[in-house]
Amino acid sequence: MRIAVYPGSFDPVTNGHLNIIERAAKLFDRVIVCVMINSGKKPLFSLAEREGFLRSVCAHLQNVEIDSYGGLLAEYAKEHRCCTIIKGLRAGSDFEKEFQMAMINRKLNPDLESLFLTAEHQYMYLSSSAVKELGFYGADVSGLLPPQILQQFLQRIRNTSDNKENEK
Ligand code: PNS
Repeated sequence: MRIAVYPGSFDPVTNGHLNIIERAAKLFDRVIVCVMINSGKKPLFSLAEREGFLRSVCAHLQNVEIDSYGGLLAEYAKEHRCCTIIKGLRAGSDFEKEFQMAMINRKLNPDLESLFLTAEHQYMYLSSSAVKELGFYGADVSGLLPPQILQQFLQRIRNTSDNKENEK
């Protein structure tokens, strides 16, 4: 059985992430989508909320499981017998960071391969950060997020921007 892990912050999951998950699910027997901590980011949603979003948008994918983990990806992959890390690769700016992470993960766990799936052209510039920025300024993000999570996203963005207003 070939098991892959697709790690990320998923804050929140976008249509670009979902596209990668659907494509990875065709390549592996099992895909574990694992919500992890990026120490450089301050998330808008809790780990449990992000996991819940992923569960609802991946419900149609029989061989996809959702999990979360607060430690190292290489450790998680070993514990769960994952042979491959799946990553989505967008415009050139992703490359350097992803290349470095792939090297580190392979040093930590030499049996682990990183496999990069190139983003579909319509998702090339899509990121959770960009969606949050657009949402904060009231722009339409409906084509960028899975419809199941849109209302909860807008609600949280509204609360966040109200709190920022009150801080002034
Ligand atoms: O969606 P992101 O924020 O680009 O995902 C980055 C993530 C969460 C995959 C990365 O930060 C990560 O692997 N975090 C777990 C800790 C770890 O193993 N770091 C890699 C060694 S530097």
